[in-house]
Amino acid sequence: MAKVKTTYFCKNCGSESPKWVGKCAACNEWNTFIEEVISKPSKGALPGLVDFTNSATPVSINSIDSAAHPRINLKDSELNRALGGGLVPGSMILFGGEPGIGKSTLMLQVAIKKNTLKTLYVSGEESEQQIKMRADRIGIDNENCVILAETSSHRILKQLKEINPDLLIIDSIQTLFSESLDSSPGSISQIRECTSELLRFAKSTNTPVFLIGHITKDGTLAGPKVLEHMVDVVLQFEGDRNHVYRLLRSVKNRFGSTNELGIYEMQGSGLREVANPSELLISNNDQDLSGVAIASMLEGMRPMLIEIQALVSTAAYGTPQRSATGFDLRRLGMLLAVLEKRCGFKLGAKDVFLNIAGGIKVDDPAIDLAVVCAVLSSNVDLPIAKNTCLAAEVGLSGEIRPVSRLDQRIFEAQKLGYQQIIVSANNKGLNEKEYGIEVVQVRKIEEVFKKLFA
Ligand code: TYD
Ligand code: MG
Repeated sequence: MAKVKTTYFCKNCGSESPKWVGKCAACNEWNTFIEEVISKPSKGALPGLVDFTNSATPVSINSIDSAAHPRINLKDSELNRALGGGLVPGSMILFGGEPGIGKSTLMLQVAIKKNTLKTLYVSGEESEQQIKMRADRIGIDNENCVILAETSSHRILKQLKEINPDLLIIDSIQTLFSESLDSSPGSISQIRECTSELLRFAKSTNTPVFLIGHITKDGTLAGPKVLEHMVDVVLQFEGDRNHVYRLLRSVKNRFGSTNELGIYEMQGSGLREVANPSELLISNNDQDLSGVAIASMLEGMRPMLIEIQALVSTAAYGTPQRSATGFDLRRLGMLLAVLEKRCGFKLGAKDVFLNIAGGIKVDDPAIDLAVVCAVLSSNVDLPIAKNTCLAAEVGLSGEIRPVSRLDQRIFEAQKLGYQQIIVSANNKGLNEKEYGIEVVQVRKIEEVFKKLFA
């Protein structure tokens, strides 16, 4: 019997070592090596692949026609946006996200929504019947969609040669296995081998490929980081499973900006594209409520208005509680300290709860001022005028600091019918007259309170 060959792989960067080592020499991480059974892939050609013995010839960069393969316009404007303006032929896209977030739903939607692309949807997780049930929920418009329940990469490549699709979707890369290796599906060497086989297919036939990938508990794509290096685009699907909003973020994009963001809402019949996120993130209450402030924030390049809710109450127990959902707790602590020290508000003996509506996480510093104002509004129990929104950072001395892309933030507020926006007076080149909305410029936090609660 042939001896079982094993080798060690670093979980973090995918580097290989013949024996176990405590520290990875490539990425300097500790305790990341795991043993895997392998046997080297045979050198023979894989089925369904073109012959790679033909060597390429160098060409002048000017003579290459970039317009020869225009981007494919998917019937999903949010996905097009996240990809940087459509799908590039021959590109490989890794689509990651936590279990149950809606990866399979979105990909199936791409496959069966009305388009002229012949799509092959390969599922290693669900049977054909299960996929059909899901497809019926979403609604099938594409007659050209083919479903294949298969996990062997060689058999998939064989089918690819016959079907010759315009778009390939793999759900998920962790379930595939290649016959050239003995290790089990989902192991690092298998993921790497299957990806490289599919990558060769994508590049040699100019077919775009979506790979669905699972995310581990610590938020990284399962499998080695090396997967992220191999693919052209890495998209991440995020969101709170208890909320309906899902953010599609681009983490890496060889053909576009990574600042683009797509937004979806999970409904009973699949994912709906959200063209105007602000209307979802602001609850249109008719009553004036204290403790609510609206911030004009940017997520990537996309401006949106978001509601911040705070509740300040007398601490029931000895130690006051501080809790924040969707906002950094340490930053909240810092802002409360600024209020205490610079403005003389006694919040030390109060419980403070902060919530960002819609279950999304915000790390844009421009919402600082809105957080501070929501806290104070709740503390003094006076509502902030409904037509006012805020966009500024708060510094440690209580100064109001400028934020990036103020123009976009102001226009978004104006578009949504706000009549007043409070910003820092230190924004350079700001011409208040340009806007159809009152732009109030402030320097100190005290000025804001006078404006809001006077
Ligand atoms: P799914 O795409 O299976 O998640 P993933 O592939 O990322 O693991 O989505 C699962 C969730 O989506 C499930 O909890 C139910 C919900 N869902 C809807 O709310 N509406 C729908 O139309 C579909 C298909 C799923
Ligand atoms: Mg799935």
